[in-house]
Amino acid sequence: MADEIVNVNEYQVLARQALPKMYYDFYAGGAEDEHTLKENVQAFQRIIFLPRVLVDVSNVALSTTILGYNISAPIMIAPTAMHKLAHPEGELATARAAAKSNTIMILSFSASCTVEEVAASCDAVRFFQLYVYKRRDIAVNLVQRAEKSGYKAIVLTADTPRLGRREADIKNKLIVPQLKNLEGLMSMEVVSDKGSNLEAYANETMDPSLCWRDIAWLKSITNLPILIKGILTREDATKAMEIGAAGIIVSNHGARQLDYTPATISVLEEVVQAVGGKVPVFLDGGVRRGTDIFKALALGAQAVLVGRPVVFGLAAKGEAGVKKVMQMLKDELELTMALAGCPSVKDINRSHVRTERQRLQ
Ligand code: FNR
Repeated sequence: MADEIVNVNEYQVLARQALPKMYYDFYAGGAEDEHTLKENVQAFQRIIFLPRVLVDVSNVALSTTILGYNISAPIMIAPTAMHKLAHPEGELATARAAAKSNTIMILSFSASCTVEEVAASCDAVRFFQLYVYKRRDIAVNLVQRAEKSGYKAIVLTADTPRLGRREADIKNKLIVPQLKNLEGLMSMEVVSDKGSNLEAYANETMDPSLCWRDIAWLKSITNLPILIKGILTREDATKAMEIGAAGIIVSNHGARQLDYTPATISVLEEVVQAVGGKVPVFLDGGVRRGTDIFKALALGAQAVLVGRPVVFGLAAKGEAGVKKVMQMLKDELELTMALAGCPSVKDINRSHVRTERQRLQ
């Protein structure tokens, strides 16, 4: 590959070269047939633009406001587990890149640095992603630590009552290190000598009984706004509104949970309609281009989250790689806006895109 990296997909190639197979597969892989993994990307490619011309685009402004926080562009860092498997500086490097990019980082519950370490390492606006274990005291402990360390929202991941079946991890007999946030609270001893150790661990610890009425409990242990991640239907969007979620993240967990769920971009619009503008709707899954971000915004997302490209940038080049990933996405979005006739993110609307469904009508 030529020296200059020209798009975020190229970091995936570099990450593959840089990482042991077990870890590369963990980051890149999806569940079972990986149908949704491909669809997340390909569904974006079936949406086309209807650009407007002769609009003054001599200044294109990308900045936006998320839950009251100004960021440089509608692109945030999705929570992804165990960044130290990608790079020795782990989440600290990612957090510094987030701060330098002036964006929001959502720290994974399953991080390889603690909430406190990440908070001390940078002044980026941070949200904390929560998994709820059978041992509810762990959620209480982590939510309170996140709140104390200045995280601004809790992102409850709702699509993981059990871990999806990731066959590469099973074949590789994936072993992951002790989760840093749980040190002193719960040991992550090897619970299986067969298949994916992460799967065995997760299935032993995750609380599969977690349900809508438990959100009241979650609200009772924090003053932070709660975003619900993993919504794919209008029914669940409506329920999330009813229980007072501060925002919704349309996500299929990067196609790592239930295979054959729809590509997130294909269900965004109906979720947005169900929410009716009452709370912000975000999207992740398959965002690899500035054009993808524009399409998500045109279909009603307030911002997107990016998962794998960040991890691949981190694996290839550490903090600089993550920063470059964010910069390339911003530059592409800026050019897309100029060419589509949108001088600011507020100018992007439904009339700028045509979906496959519309084309078939
Ligand atoms: C994830 N994701 C995830 N989500 C979450 O809520 N908690 C987590 O710990 C993780 N961990 C994780 C690890 C890895 C390696 C990946 C790829 C993904 C899902 C993540 O937040 C997001 O939904 C997807 O990554 C978005 O899709 P893309 O951008 O990776 O296509």
